[in-house]
Amino acid sequence: MNKTYSHTPVPLDFPVPEFDFAGCDARRWNGGSAVKSHFWNTFSSLLPNIEFCAIVTLLPIVKRIDDAKLNMETSQFCRQEGEHGNAHSRFNAQRLHPDYPFLTRMESWERSLFKRLSIWLPLNWNLALFVAVEHWTAAFSHFGLQRPDDWFSECDPTMFSLWEWHAVEELAHKSVCFDIFRYFGGSYFSRVAGMVLLLALIMLPGIFARMAYLFWKDGIFFKPATYKGLFSYLFSRTGVLRTTFLDFLGYFRLGYNPWNLDSRPLISAWESRNPVASSVSAPQPASSPDK
Ligand SMILES: [Fe+2]
Ligand SMILES: [Fe+2]
Repeated sequence: MNKTYSHTPVPLDFPVPEFDFAGCDARRWNGGSAVKSHFWNTFSSLLPNIEFCAIVTLLPIVKRIDDAKLNMETSQFCRQEGEHGNAHSRFNAQRLHPDYPFLTRMESWERSLFKRLSIWLPLNWNLALFVAVEHWTAAFSHFGLQRPDDWFSECDPTMFSLWEWHAVEELAHKSVCFDIFRYFGGSYFSRVAGMVLLLALIMLPGIFARMAYLFWKDGIFFKPATYKGLFSYLFSRTGVLRTTFLDFLGYFRLGYNPWNLDSRPLISAWESRNPVASSVSAPQPASSPDK
C-alpha cells in the first residue's frame, strides 16, 4: 500500500438521518434549560458558516492532493460538512431565527469576515484555521459522546440525534484538515497561529455576542442564576470546558495529531445503536503512517 498523509482509521460514509424540527423548542430543548440550550444554539448558528467556508477553501485544492486516500477523504469531508451545515441551517431557520432575528445579521457579518480571511490569508494559515476548528469540534464531540447524561440530560430526542450524528462525523473526519495542512507543508507556527486567529476573531466574539443576545432576548441577561447555571455547565467537574481543557492543551504539543485521542470506540458504540449506520460503515484498522 502506498504511503499516505492520512491518519483517518475509519470510513467516512455514514448515512444522513432525517430530522423533523417541528416540535423542537429552541429555548428548552436541552434539559428544559435556556442556558444549556443556548450554549449549543450559539454553535448551531456559528458552525454552518465555518463549514461552508471550509468547503469553499478545500474544493479548489482537492485536485492538487496527489494522495488517493486523502484526496477521497477531502471530498467526503466536504460532503459531511455540507450536510451538517444544511441540517443546522434548517434548524436555525425554522426554530431559532424567527424568535432571535438578529442572529441572521451576525451570521451575515461572519460570512463576509470569512470571505475576507480566505482572500487575505495564505493557504497554510487558512488551512490552519480549519485545523483549529476541527480540534474544537472533535473535543466537544468526543467528550460529549462520552458523557451525554451530563451535557444533554432530558434532551429533546430530535436535537440529541442531530448533535450525536454531527459529533460522530466530526470524530470520524477529525484529522482530514490536519492531514491536508501537513500535505501542503503547514508548520507548527502556522498551526498555533490558526488557533489564535480562530479564538480571537471568530469563536470568542461569536460565542459571547450570541450568548449575550440570546440571554437578553429571553429576559435572563441580568439574572445571576443565568451565570451561575452557565458557570456550572462549563466549569463543574463534568463541565464542558473543564472536561475538554487538557485536550485543548494537547493541540499545542509538537507531536500533535487528532487521533492521539482514539475515538473509534465512541463511533462504534454509535453505530451499534444505529444499525443502519453500521451496515454502511465498517471499521478499518488504525493506520497513522508519518511521511
Ligand atoms: Fe460539521
Ligand atoms: Fe468537521
